[in-house]
Amino acid sequence: MQQLVCVDDYEKLAVKTLPPIAKDYYQSGAGDQNTLKWNREAFARYRIRPRVLRNVSMRDITTKVLGHQVSMPLGISPTAMQRMAHPDGECASARAAEEIGTIFILSTISTSSIEEIAQAAPKAIKWFQLYIYCDRDITLNLIKRAEKAGFSAIVLTVDTPYFGIRRADVRNKFVLPEHLKLANFQGFLSDKINRTNEGSGLNEYVKELFDDTITWDDVKWLKGVTQLPIILKGILTVEDAKLAVDNGIKAIIVSNHGARQIDGTPATIEVLPEIVNAVGDQIEIYLDGGVRQGTDVLKALALGAKMVFFGRPVLWGLANGGFEGVKSVLNLMKSDISAVLGLAGCRSVAEITRDMVIHESYYSRL
Ligand code: FNR
Ligand code: LAC
Repeated sequence: MQQLVCVDDYEKLAVKTLPPIAKDYYQSGAGDQNTLKWNREAFARYRIRPRVLRNVSMRDITTKVLGHQVSMPLGISPTAMQRMAHPDGECASARAAEEIGTIFILSTISTSSIEEIAQAAPKAIKWFQLYIYCDRDITLNLIKRAEKAGFSAIVLTVDTPYFGIRRADVRNKFVLPEHLKLANFQGFLSDKINRTNEGSGLNEYVKELFDDTITWDDVKWLKGVTQLPIILKGILTVEDAKLAVDNGIKAIIVSNHGARQIDGTPATIEVLPEIVNAVGDQIEIYLDGGVRQGTDVLKALALGAKMVFFGRPVLWGLANGGFEGVKSVLNLMKSDISAVLGLAGCRSVAEITRDMVIHESYYSRL
């Protein structure tokens, strides 16, 4: 078997084996997919300034996130409907996160239920990603089940009043394969997504059920109904980061939803520095979008992120052997992060400093 040495190798193999509709759903970004490209390219525009002669023989890449000790500063972003990639779906990803010692975020629209995840990975650090449904009883029920099942934070996705337009899904008339269900729901809410539609079945589902009227008042509502810390996922501006602080939020994920919502937004790594400057001393800041290798993680941390997450690479891992595949992807990233840290002259995450990364524009000004 071919040796897989980086995340891109996993992707190349996964896209060959996945059913085309699933492949397109996982890979796509919105519109012209410019932001999708920029999420990666923008990382390359930051240059690393490595320090030398610092005895890097012993390296510790553990860190603390919202009070949790994690084995590396990289966790799993929520991605929907993982059983299209492998029959074990989200359960396999959560188990891999448990074994590696990092955070697993479960999507609201998962193909394994909150309770199945708790059973599959009882010791994993599990966060629940929430979409607010028009029906607040449905929403509240999800939150209470997540609390009961041992999830330790609610990740409220704030960039999705409805879905961005992913052209491939419209062309494919995306529907969830008949044998799979949105496992957190029953009846209509679970199987509506399996029906054929004019456009993307997913878009129809979301338009009908997600609440596109949500505002900061709903964030207040959420704070009032749960004791769990709330993380806002999908912040891209200083203005909104400040509002998150004003609303007593514990952490934000700087994210453009893997470029799936509105094409033309900046890459997440581009907006990170100004958000860190504005609120970095008041709130924990995480990032996702285009993270594929150890140097990306180093750059994000140097620019002030406390933790980063990735979405698609986990799907590529799942497609290449389920639990074992995700574990391999996480292990690969773990050794890459450790290697890169040492080569930059750091023995620990705490030793990564702002001056270790500089934008390429600096060199053209010299
Ligand atoms: C996502 N994302 C996402 N986000 C969320 O809050 N809830 C969800 O259910 C999903 N579902 C989802 C499905 C798929 C197939 C993808 C690719 C993405 C966004 C996800 O959490 C994350 O922000 C991005 O995936 C990060 O970008 P990378 O790492 O995929 O480049
Ligand atoms: C997506 C949703 C599920 O990006 O967030 O497809």
